Amino acid sequence: MVLFRPLEVLVLVFFFALASCTSLLSSSSGTHNALWIPPLLTGTTTTAGTEFQLTVSATTKSFREGKETATYSYNNTGFWGPTLVVRKGEKVTIHVNNNLPVETTTHWHGLHVPAAMDGGPMQVVEPGATWSPTFTVMNQAATFWYHPHLHTTTAKQLALGAGGFLLVRDADEAKLALPRTYGVDDLPVVLTSRTFDASNQIQTDTIYGDRLLANGTLNAQATVGAQVVRLRLLNAEIERAYSLGFADNRKFFVIAGDGGLLEKPVPVTRLLMSPGERYEVLIDLTKDPVGASVPLLAYNRNQEFGFPGGEPNQTGDFGSLLNNTTFEVLNLKVRAAGTEALLTIPTALITNNYPTMEVSNSRTINITDQGPGTPFTFDNAGYDMMMINQTVKLGATEKWSVVNDFVFGHSFHIHDVQFKLVSRSSGPVGAWESGWKDTFFIQRNETVSFVARFEDFADPVNAFMYHCHMANHEDGGLMGQFVVVP
Ligand code: C2O
Ligand code: CU
Repeated sequence: MVLFRPLEVLVLVFFFALASCTSLLSSSSGTHNALWIPPLLTGTTTTAGTEFQLTVSATTKSFREGKETATYSYNNTGFWGPTLVVRKGEKVTIHVNNNLPVETTTHWHGLHVPAAMDGGPMQVVEPGATWSPTFTVMNQAATFWYHPHLHTTTAKQLALGAGGFLLVRDADEAKLALPRTYGVDDLPVVLTSRTFDASNQIQTDTIYGDRLLANGTLNAQATVGAQVVRLRLLNAEIERAYSLGFADNRKFFVIAGDGGLLEKPVPVTRLLMSPGERYEVLIDLTKDPVGASVPLLAYNRNQEFGFPGGEPNQTGDFGSLLNNTTFEVLNLKVRAAGTEALLTIPTALITNNYPTMEVSNSRTINITDQGPGTPFTFDNAGYDMMMINQTVKLGATEKWSVVNDFVFGHSFHIHDVQFKLVSRSSGPVGAWESGWKDTFFIQRNETVSFVARFEDFADPVNAFMYHCHMANHEDGGLMGQFVVVP
């Protein structure tokens, strides 16, 4: 497993000028495969609330002709698990059964839950064991996800396919005129990439895959009506970011960030997503003729240095056929709109109660390294399970400033809370990223600040994580812990 970055980057600086003669659209035009939609899991109602069963095991999936690919997946889906659907206010218990031959954990990314229920590196589920966290859903409607979080093994278990969506529904969202029919006009789309070896096996030590997968589907195409369509996009890559957009530069509309709906749709032509981030977007297909195909592309060519996946090399530790290219991530095939189809983009969404700038405490977190060839760390110290790096007082409104060094971009994520981005040293915070967030891209040489309220779950023993969501950086030690204390 390659955990280091800086040395490689220095080498890349040297070769950067030679880069990018190979950057025509590398979408494999021609045959598409139908976008696989993960099954819904709505749980069973009991007197104790709603109970879910998740079993993670070693499975296989046929990605392409030839040999089956060995994978890890929840509930035997093959690659990427079922979509859990919960409601705000609902009391849930999720039984996580570990049928893998190795330890794992399952983390509820973005959910506001007690640290002991969070599924971080501390809540190890031994092979054959079941872990049954229980909590009340406090988040508002948005797109979340679950994935393994076992320290040093997160990248590998994720690479093999362990992960899934978790959707929160609530009354405010239900009132809005939005596409909401799962798998029909409201599509979950998890983007990632993998490299398959000659016998079709996933190379788990590859940082940037050669082949793009949407919901585990190669060359994915979704057939949708000539109407307004909602995509719930998740970047579940190991390290690559995407700058998403359409070839005709049409506007599409961001309606939600990681942790909830925005006040109103924000039109964009490009949308940057780093690992761990989610955006819900609306796409207006009302003017596209039936039969048209509308490709959603990643414009990853000629990005600024430090953009993950912008490296010029196609082979080697950080090489990939998709590096520094524009490539298709999903093809939308237009059919006639259904009778209930939404035909207009709403003008208003919801009201959010963001934290004020009257902060009770500020702290600064530095992304550091010890020179070429060393792992990235926070404040010069790699992750140590026995170490509490930050202590937050219950009830505090805090401003955290993350300061990146000059080496590379990162994807900063914090557990427990949803926050509001308040500043970027590189320029204004984008309107599309101004809602509830739990993960953001930080460029090299940039300082990004956010404000969060820590109102619940005081626990001096069980810690929450903050880390880079590039799984190889996280596994390499770019992670710290905080506790919330009374
Ligand atoms: Cu997506 Cu610490 O997690
Ligand atoms: Cu990182």
